[in-house]
Amino acid sequence: MTQLNITHVVVISLTAVFVLVAMDRGGALRGPQPTYTPPAPVQAAAPAVDSEKGKPPPHNDTVDDLPEGKGREITFYTCTACHGVALIKAQGLTRDLWDSSIDLMIEKHRMPPVKPAERAEVLDYLTEQFPPRRRGRNADNPFLK
Ligand code: HEC
Repeated sequence: MTQLNITHVVVISLTAVFVLVAMDRGGALRGPQPTYTPPAPVQAAAPAVDSEKGKPPPHNDTVDDLPEGKGREITFYTCTACHGVALIKAQGLTRDLWDSSIDLMIEKHRMPPVKPAERAEVLDYLTEQFPPRRRGRNADNPFLK
C-alpha cells in the first residue's frame, strides 16, 4: 500500500487551491454575471428661475397690479422691464431709501438711467404708495433700522 506522507498531502492541497484560484479568477466558478446597465439619466426639471445669472423670473404684470395713484404709469414702465411689481410692493421705504434703490437698479442691475423729472415722479409715487411699514410687523428687523 502506498504510504501517503505529509509532503504529498501538502503538495496536493496547494495544487488544488492554486487550480481553484485560477478557475475563480477566470470566472469558471461564478457562472454568468449580470451585466451593468447604467441608470437612465434623470431629466433635469425646468428651473424655477430663469437660468441666466441673477435674472428675475418673467412676469405678466400690468399697470393695474400697482396701486392707483399719481405716477403709477411711469413707475410701472420704468420699473417692470426686468421684474414684476411684487419685488417693489414687498418693500416699504423712505424717500431716501427708494432713491438709493433706484441707484442700485442703475448701478447693480444695469437699469438705463432715467431723466431727473421722471425719476422724481417715480420717487414721489413709490414714497407715497410704499412708505416704511408701521411699527409692529417689522419692528424687530435690524435691517430696516
Ligand atoms: C434693468 C433691470 C431693472 C429695472 C429697470 C429695475 N430693476 Fe429692480 N431689480 C432688478 C434685479 C435684477 C433685481 C434683483 C431681483 C432678484 O433678486 O430676484 C431687482 C430687485 C429689485 C427690488 C428688490 C429688492 C432689492 O433691492 O433687490 C426692488 C425693491 C426693486 N428692484 C425695485 C425697482 C424699482 C423701484 C425700479 C424702478 C425705478 C426697478 N426696480 C427697476 C432689475 C431691475
